[in-house]
Amino acid sequence: MAEQQLRIAVFASGQGSNFQALADAAAEGKLGGSIELLVCDKPSAPVVERARRAGIEAWVFNPKSYASREAYEHEILDELRRRGVGLVVLAGYMRILTPVLVEAFDGRMINIHPSLLPSFPGLNAIGQALEHGVKVTGVTIHFVDGGLDSGPIIAQRSIEIGEGESEASLSERIHSAENVLYPWAVRCIAEGRVTLDGRKVRIAGADFSG
Ligand code: GAR
Repeated sequence: MAEQQLRIAVFASGQGSNFQALADAAAEGKLGGSIELLVCDKPSAPVVERARRAGIEAWVFNPKSYASREAYEHEILDELRRRGVGLVVLAGYMRILTPVLVEAFDGRMINIHPSLLPSFPGLNAIGQALEHGVKVTGVTIHFVDGGLDSGPIIAQRSIEIGEGESEASLSERIHSAENVLYPWAVRCIAEGRVTLDGRKVRIAGADFSG
């Protein structure tokens, strides 16, 4: 019998370059799992059109039409359970999560953040790094816990900031790094190579070589 593939939901709010990279990897059979659903809180976000083109169903909602965060998260949770989703991948999902989803997907929800955490959590991490004048920043993929960008770290890549580099240029380089690292990390999880021991994450087998 064929092994059951990991069923993945991607949450995104914006451009969706990471969603695209994940969808492309899935289409090429390189993700180790299937993307069952895009969850998006912005009906006009470009990522919704990307999902349509990739043939991936989108569950798009307007947070303002719900009484609370918990209310829409319960609906999302029902959708995820109905589809047998085993991994939630946050890819530029710009909403605070409540324990409704975080606890239901404890150890099965990951996020990508455009800095070397624990530096520059929260909004506008790229701008924060430039403003601070750091010489090196990067990308972090981590498990989601109850805090702000605070969960156990799965993978990081550093990026040197050029003298006088603009935010647009740095953002482009960070996105390029993210778009390669995220599919790799998801594949590692899908292949069962990632284990979590307290704050320490171990990845068995080959290291990243993108
Ligand atoms: C990415 O750079 C991701 O790291 C960031 O949003 C961007 C989404 O880009 N996420 C956060 O800042 C989360 N705190 P994309 O829509 O092109 O994938």
